[in-house]
Amino acid sequence: NELGLVAVGFSGGQCKPGVDAAPMALIESGLVDQLKNDLEYDLHYDDQVHSYSDLMPKDDPEHRGMKNARAVCAVTKKLSSQVYEHARKGRFVLTLGGDHSIAIGTISGTAKAIRERLCRDMAVIWVDAHADINTPESSDSGNIHGMPLAFLTGLATENEGSPFGWVTEDKRISPKKLVYIGLRDVDRGEKKILRENGIKAFSMHDIDRHGIGKVMDMALGWIGSDTPIHLSFDIDALDPMWAPSTGTAVRGGLTLREGDFIAECVHETGSLVALDLVEVNPSLEQQGAAETVRAGVSIVRCALGDTLL
Ligand code: ARG
Ligand code: MN
Ligand code: MN
Ligand code: MN
Repeated sequence: NELGLVAVGFSGGQCKPGVDAAPMALIESGLVDQLKNDLEYDLHYDDQVHSYSDLMPKDDPEHRGMKNARAVCAVTKKLSSQVYEHARKGRFVLTLGGDHSIAIGTISGTAKAIRERLCRDMAVIWVDAHADINTPESSDSGNIHGMPLAFLTGLATENEGSPFGWVTEDKRISPKKLVYIGLRDVDRGEKKILRENGIKAFSMHDIDRHGIGKVMDMALGWIGSDTPIHLSFDIDALDPMWAPSTGTAVRGGLTLREGDFIAECVHETGSLVALDLVEVNPSLEQQGAAETVRAGVSIVRCALGDTLL
């Protein structure tokens, strides 16, 4: 089994320093060794946490209300081609973030590669407390980690020459092929976007009502079998009890087992082609950082085929 790993130490999609240290923390806690030795992946990793410092603009004024638009653009564009290079060779692509703005790079890269290699449109399962589908205009914060899905679905677009003009149709996904799990902090403008575009979403309310088993059946049923899946997992989907060290923690989230179960179920489909693990910020909590990293390692292991028995 071929696995491409990209470590992205980038925090410019939001305002808190520290998420850039997550890939190193995850790797130091043994993740890479476990993927090679326990799960027996043939690992393709360039042995570096990319900070893309050479790509950083010296001047990055607000653009359509977005903070650091040029920096996020430069990083995600480069990341997109890194992910694409792995995916087009048929490798599973694991990306360790970084804040969730990096999904603009990862998903655009896999979507393009899957289209070229398999002539298929890819689905995305977005596990998160947040919907991250604000347009630059609907966002209150201007933080791009709250916007990746707007660019990836084409609900927000930019002209050639503008920062995100490179996210062209060949790199996008259909809003009909996006499924959310774990939502509980969705902005008003985002609720409207979800409604108007018929986007499938399972909130914490749905998980309380049906249980995570039924919700996974419904989520995977919506996608349909034999559709390549990119799983983008924001650690803040987990309750802060299990993952306190993250920039925008929201109470009332998934248990550790529910998070692992989601990852296990997606793995079991045999259709998973890529995984992002984002928003682990080891610098935010003295006590909770190690626990949060451990939760992240567990999610990745489950998504990559670790089983309990
Ligand atoms: N909806 C809020 C915003 O637009 C919060 C987004 C949080 N995103 C995340 N990837 N943690 O700023
Ligand atoms: Mn190989
Ligand atoms: Mn989130
Ligand atoms: Mn997110």
